[in-house]
Amino acid sequence: MDQNKELSGKTIVITGATDGIGKALAQMTWKAGANLVLHGRNPQKLEALLKSLGEGLPGQQAMTVKADFSRLREVREMAAEIQAKVPRIDILVNNAGFYPDGRVITEDGFEECSQVNYLSPFLLTNLLRPLLIKSAPMRIINLSSIGHRFVWSNVYASARHPFYWRWVAYCRSKLDIIPWTRELSDQLKEYRITVNSIHPGIIRTKVIRFLPVSWGASVRSGAATVYRLIADPNLADVSGEYFERYRKSKPSLVARSRRYQEALWRHSLRKLGLKQADDGSIIQRSPTQNDQ
Ligand SMILES: NC(=O)c1ccc[n+]([C@@H]2O[C@H](COP(=O)([O-])OP(=O)(O)OC[C@H]3O[C@@H](n4cnc5c(N)ncnc54)[C@H](OP(=O)(O)O)[C@@H]3O)[C@@H](O)[C@H]2O)c1
Repeated sequence: MDQNKELSGKTIVITGATDGIGKALAQMTWKAGANLVLHGRNPQKLEALLKSLGEGLPGQQAMTVKADFSRLREVREMAAEIQAKVPRIDILVNNAGFYPDGRVITEDGFEECSQVNYLSPFLLTNLLRPLLIKSAPMRIINLSSIGHRFVWSNVYASARHPFYWRWVAYCRSKLDIIPWTRELSDQLKEYRITVNSIHPGIIRTKVIRFLPVSWGASVRSGAATVYRLIADPNLADVSGEYFERYRKSKPSLVARSRRYQEALWRHSLRKLGLKQADDGSIIQRSPTQNDQ
């Protein structure tokens, strides 16, 4: 695909832009002329990222926002900061994610991997919803994983269940991305907002450091799969789909279960103390309801 300033004038929000796929994507989209809102949790890495971008086009802008996704309070502050400073969003890439070292329960009372990889992007996207609708047509891209195929899930599972296997925790967080993507796509279609999820390949980043051997495709090739969902004009009306690298793919049975999709949506809202009004808007109902 020709990346010759084809994103000029577009504003792209990339979460987890300080390393791996998100960082490579930030550099590619900057070269293609986009204005960037770059998220990270580490101020030094954010500063280094901004420096690494180099000179842009006249008027091209990049800003950073800081939030640790294991703290919902910081996700709310990030959403408020974006709404205050960014007039429109053409593309939102929910990319931030990690592979856990072990079970951690966050200050919000959730298992950390499910919070960082799924609940926080779910919250962020819901809080940005009015701005996204105002910006339409626009695209949302959520980073899932082929690992979703190896697990089943239960929306009511407790963060404190005695069985904890970090591979399962990671894959479940990536499984939930897919029904969430499908639900969001159903809800936002009328506004001309497309929502798709993607497995970018097995990519050599710290997310796969648990593998016994060091293999995987280059970081740039992983970012290129996401870049295509951002920029390909042929995908402008494609929504609710799951991609494995460049191929539209059928996700697992549970990932495409309508019942699971609806239960997950309701349960995620409830966990975060959110409520959906009859007109579709999302409102804060009560303090977060965790499963402590
Ligand atoms: N690599 C693969 O093979 C692969 C395969 C399938 C899906 N994915 C998905 O692709 C996405 C990008 O992963 P990657 O491979 O590029 O990994 P990476 O190099 O580790 O980058 C992950 C990004 O997420 C950020 N992040 C991690 N924990 C965070 C937290 N608590 N709060 C806020 N930001 C946080 C990281 O920040 P720091 O820079 O501060 O660490 C970094 O910017 C993830 O969602 C991952 O699950 C990756």
